[in-house]
Amino acid sequence: MIGLSIAIELHQGGAEVFVLDRGDSPATWAAAGMLAPQAENLGDSPLGQLGFYSRDLWPDWAKKLEKLSGLNIDYQACGIFLPGNQGRSAEGQWWNAQVLQSQIPGINVQAGVWFPQEGCVDNRLVFQALKRACEHLGIPVHRGVTIFGPGDPQLQTVNTSSGVIAADLFVLAQGSWSGEWLDIPVYPLKGQMLAIQAEIGQLKTVIFSESTYIVPRLDGRIVVGATQEWAGFAPGNSEPEISTLHRSAIDLLPWLAGYPVIETWWGFRPTTPDQSPMIGEGPWPHLCLATGHHRNGILLAPATAYLLSQQILTGKPEALLAPFSWKRFVKDGLCQGEGAKGLQ
Ligand code: GLY
Repeated sequence: MIGLSIAIELHQGGAEVFVLDRGDSPATWAAAGMLAPQAENLGDSPLGQLGFYSRDLWPDWAKKLEKLSGLNIDYQACGIFLPGNQGRSAEGQWWNAQVLQSQIPGINVQAGVWFPQEGCVDNRLVFQALKRACEHLGIPVHRGVTIFGPGDPQLQTVNTSSGVIAADLFVLAQGSWSGEWLDIPVYPLKGQMLAIQAEIGQLKTVIFSESTYIVPRLDGRIVVGATQEWAGFAPGNSEPEISTLHRSAIDLLPWLAGYPVIETWWGFRPTTPDQSPMIGEGPWPHLCLATGHHRNGILLAPATAYLLSQQILTGKPEALLAPFSWKRFVKDGLCQGEGAKGLQ
């Protein structure tokens, strides 16, 4: 999602762009699609500032993507409910038991805070729409191309499974696989998820508790997530994790027990040691980074695409991106990744 979004933004800014797509199952496909800087407690940090900025871009960005692709992406400005006192802020509305039962009938919680500015989108539809938009705009997407490494010391070329490929500038947006040919600390943080088929309109807002989150889709599916596991790229779902997630969701919303689980899946969040992305110039000439978005890639895609493209096209640094330089991980001339594990 990050790579395709940047490609579209650069193309619209007048650049000639092509995309090399290795074809791994990206985090975009696996995510729940929450647009949730409040619920994710990003706070007043640089990451929070980028997150709130991106959340504000989402409504227009969603319209633009739907127009470019001709596809619906089910963007919902549906709000997110947090049980209890979690993350109270000026943006939140306190829902007492009476309000809560009228808004989320049957929820097994006494009260909590609802954040009306948060929302969600169907990330798989976004992924389809981005690919379709690239087609419509004539941006070539070369599928099944693996990058092996730099083709020369200036990185004017890369060696790939399709031979040597040249460009004036490369943007690395390989998600969890970003550290494969470059010494930058990005690691896969596995997440397992499941979906339940309920009725259309039965749940109208996202529920985000400490143990799980529950995200409605417009077709009645309800997405439940997610584990956080340091498991490398180990594929597959495991029974205890999926059962625990399912039970947590039913504890919150007991009527979910009456509906079938229709899908389970997993994905890999691209996570850095401080759980913030690397966006901007990279450690080689002619290289930019847009990776390490951890739990917030869907949220941050519009801001990443817009700000990085502006920076590339104008040559002027974007202040909101300054904290996300890869250089913050450099110690003693080395790019350090140790210590990422155990940060969850
Ligand atoms: N964005 C939620 C997650 O990564 O689980």
